Amino acid sequence: MGATRVPGLLFGGDYNPEQWPEEVWAEDVRLMAEAGVNMATVAVFSWSRLEPRPGVYDWGWLDRVLDLLHEHGIAADLATATATPPPWLVREHPEVMPVDAAGTRLEFGSRQGYCPSSPVFKEHAVRLARAVAERYKDHPALAMWHISNEYADHTLECFCPESARHFRTWLGKRYGSIEALNQAWGTSCWGQHYTSLDQVEPPRKAPGPVNPSQLVDWRRFCSDALLELFGAEKSVLREITPDIPVTTNFMSILHGLDYWKWAAEEDLVSDDAYPDPADPESHVAVALSYDLMRSLKRKPWLLLESAPSAVSWREVNVPKPPGMMRLHSLQALAHGSDGVMFFQWRQAAYGPEKFHSAMLPHGGTATRGWQDTLRLGRDLRDLAEIAGTTTKADVALILDWDSWWGLEAPESMPSNRLRLKELLLSWYAPLHARGVNVDLARPDEDLSGYRVVIAPNLYMCTAESLRTVTGQLVVGPFSGVVDPNDHVHPGGAPGPLADLLGIAVDEFWPLPDGATQETTAGTARTWAEWIRVQDAEVVATYQGGELDGLPAVTRKGNAYYVSCLLDDPTAILSIEGLDLPDGVEATRRENYLFLLNHATTPKKVILPAPGRDLLTQQDLEGEIEIAPRDAIVLKESSDTPVYP
Ligand code: GLA
Repeated sequence: MGATRVPGLLFGGDYNPEQWPEEVWAEDVRLMAEAGVNMATVAVFSWSRLEPRPGVYDWGWLDRVLDLLHEHGIAADLATATATPPPWLVREHPEVMPVDAAGTRLEFGSRQGYCPSSPVFKEHAVRLARAVAERYKDHPALAMWHISNEYADHTLECFCPESARHFRTWLGKRYGSIEALNQAWGTSCWGQHYTSLDQVEPPRKAPGPVNPSQLVDWRRFCSDALLELFGAEKSVLREITPDIPVTTNFMSILHGLDYWKWAAEEDLVSDDAYPDPADPESHVAVALSYDLMRSLKRKPWLLLESAPSAVSWREVNVPKPPGMMRLHSLQALAHGSDGVMFFQWRQAAYGPEKFHSAMLPHGGTATRGWQDTLRLGRDLRDLAEIAGTTTKADVALILDWDSWWGLEAPESMPSNRLRLKELLLSWYAPLHARGVNVDLARPDEDLSGYRVVIAPNLYMCTAESLRTVTGQLVVGPFSGVVDPNDHVHPGGAPGPLADLLGIAVDEFWPLPDGATQETTAGTARTWAEWIRVQDAEVVATYQGGELDGLPAVTRKGNAYYVSCLLDDPTAILSIEGLDLPDGVEATRRENYLFLLNHATTPKKVILPAPGRDLLTQQDLEGEIEIAPRDAIVLKESSDTPVYP
């Protein structure tokens, strides 16, 4: 049993019946039942239909939808419907619409049109959430609450006067006095000394580069402001339905929101993932984000949205070729999801998403897409027993939002090319290629259970960070540079990590676009550093160019420092893994080994242990062949999994 009361794996998608005449609904639920759908996400954008006029509710249609779903054995992931305010609210209170950094108030006509700090919006959203919860608290279809939708998708920040007030309140709590803020923001630079909090504004478009300490605080504030909005709805749901799990759909690895903080407020982590079928490596980046989702609570999560085939929001929307939808779905399960849900059930006839694929395409049951839906439904039934199983990882990758926000502040860095996702992937991709299970972790949690802890970047670092590591520690470039106020540590990088790593960074040495720098540990791009070794040994040196012969990788005891962005930085470590052919992914959940062939040719793999493939019910051992874009879910005979 997973996080909801629905047994087995969850299967379904966003269901928008309000876009269709009621005659169509009967066919919807009949086909859902035929495909094995057991959950539908409903009412995500339904505010204007549920409350067409202030305080006047129209529940009838949603009553009938929920009844129909329940009669067909389908549970509801019921939204609080607050993702788009209705036009009457916007016209009565134009100030609920967000304002961009240049001061333009955005217009109604899309979705997510709200200022995260608007008290009017919050009051109305909470009122609606309460009304929805009171109405449906005892409905037998209700299995999960879906608050709002993809926070920060369109509206991460707003620069209106209300947001400014909210920012000042947030700053007041953080700093206590204007002098503390001046200190933290280093306002002696460029003459920004404030004498009152009332003089402080959000970082709107300014004549030149904005104070980077202010920018980092703004990023923290924006994440917190949306979380406050989420929290306001959540408390109402908690009060009325204490036993119904609450989620909001995350957007994979998102710069704008600190998902560690967010996940702590949820019962179940859910994610929306849209790997681009046109990118042959997209399964690697998406695996990293799935591992983050699992790591946020160290337990199973839910893929709440994915595309059955093409999306409609890229410049060019390439469909998923045969087999890819199934393979990508199994990949989410492999990385800890307890189900596969899609956007959306029935392909829209109108609106911006009319060309977005769906489980039931425009062409109906005659289509390839529908056959894919039916097949996946069967597979998920065969895999029901994996629901609730957990994942063990010996390797942890540190992801720290403060560092990310500091690192990617525009206009004031040694290089704007050093990007956190790229750094994470440079470590993750080679581990993934060897079937090594990886957790994501915070720098301030207990890391003593991991054999290897890798911090691809920890730009903003406190003295406590990483002290609990007992295994091998690897710290990537441009780490330990600043404190939480974005002030450079005394003596420079790696600041509080200096004694641990036994080195000092003399000078950052970013590489020009397109340039590479050879090292004895492989080719570096984007970034290098001039290192002085104190009491560390040199593991690899730079070769050629201005840094010729200087240390590139160092080691003191169990702590490595890698001063550049290497093609395969894992080559310096000895992390055991599986010998997998290119394109084959291997991941474990307890004693279930998922082998996924992302390649377009068959691949041979030697199984680490015999077992039964749950997808074909065949017993397998030794060398096996996996067809192109096919998968094996091996239930190993032994209960003691062999972790790579
Ligand atoms: C996001 C949204 C959905 C839909 C899909 C389309 O995930 O949450 O409402 O717009 O994108 O890909």
